Amino acid sequence: MTAPLLSITNVCKKFGAVVALEKVSLHVGTGEFFALLGPSGCGKTTLMRCIAGFESPDSGTMALNGLDLSGVPPYRRPVNMMFQSYALFPHLNVFENIAFGLRRKGETKDAIEARVSELLAMTQLSNFGHRRIDELSGGQKQRVALARALAPRPKMLLLDEPLGALDRKLREETQFQLKEIQRLTQTSFVIVTHDQDEALALADRIAVMRAGRVEQVAGPIEIYDKPATRFVAGFVGETNFIEGRLERNGGAAALVAEFGRIPCEPGNLPDGARATLSVRPERIGVAREGEGIAGYVENFVFRGETTLLRVRVAGNVVLRAAAGYGERHAIGDAVTLSFPPDAGTLLAEEPGDEGRNERAAQ
Ligand SMILES: Nc1ncnc2c1ncn2[C@@H]1O[C@H](COP(=O)(O)OP(=O)(O)OP(=O)(O)O)[C@@H](O)[C@H]1O
Ligand SMILES: [Mg+2]
Repeated sequence: MTAPLLSITNVCKKFGAVVALEKVSLHVGTGEFFALLGPSGCGKTTLMRCIAGFESPDSGTMALNGLDLSGVPPYRRPVNMMFQSYALFPHLNVFENIAFGLRRKGETKDAIEARVSELLAMTQLSNFGHRRIDELSGGQKQRVALARALAPRPKMLLLDEPLGALDRKLREETQFQLKEIQRLTQTSFVIVTHDQDEALALADRIAVMRAGRVEQVAGPIEIYDKPATRFVAGFVGETNFIEGRLERNGGAAALVAEFGRIPCEPGNLPDGARATLSVRPERIGVAREGEGIAGYVENFVFRGETTLLRVRVAGNVVLRAAAGYGERHAIGDAVTLSFPPDAGTLLAEEPGDEGRNERAAQ
């Protein structure tokens, strides 16, 4: 783990009766690529505005490099923010947009020239210095905004939905560029997104937020494979929720569901506990016969790499399972589903209880 650059502890923020942030605690390391992920209205932008200094928390503390940020105005923080709308200056050309923060800092003409050239090259805009902003494509504007925000060498760059205005194809390309630029500059990036794929693709660590709270902070693989709550499991990626009762048969634990026994890792839940198992479709084995849970293919969707099957395993239970490339199934086919013991994550919550837990970030 990298040294913590930003530490946020128990930050709360209300707007009238609306609780935008509730006891948010997390830290961001030096040179880390950190993502705030969550549905609309969960408090992502509010948290970012608190970090930048445009809002101040009602309670809790924030420290950068060990220095308390309360009362420090935005322009005195070694933090820069790139807004979703880019907020480029239309009357200045690309070069002058990027140079803006450097001129305000009073840097010399030569230093500005060198820094802007470096950033133009890094963002693949070397031939665009003299272009007007309204002569650029959406992707080019995005890169100018990024270069402008990086120019004064902030320790931390806050990016609120930086790729939100780009179409899907360009978004994917730009993700690679963004990651590369972050790696080259070794600046801490905190990115806001409500796109789970984007968070998984970009971030070293992700904070999943819900209704003003942080539900889990972890690396992409852990968030995906070991979601801490039912909300995280359902929000990030596709999953099946299987309800049942835990049977801790010595070594071989299983969740006893109405349609059969699913091998699982019991964690620290007691024998007999009601629990929910979250299992990703690609972790379920699909075979035509053999041991496992019997069902039949109700329908399927071809997805290129995999085919997503909807398999009815009981009168009222349908599971989604991904069949591998080249495996063909037809509607009505009988299949058997198998579950390696580590396929799922056992969650203590009951349905209807989702999110009502205090397991916030460390
Ligand atoms: N200045 C404000 N005055 C009143 N309420 C606000 C203000 N700013 C945010 N809120 C409320 O606080 C909550 C969190 O808002 P925030 O903008 O942080 O959400 P978000 O996670 O960024 O959502 P989105 O993904 O839609 O941008 C929302 O209920 C919002 O309506
Ligand atoms: Mg927002």
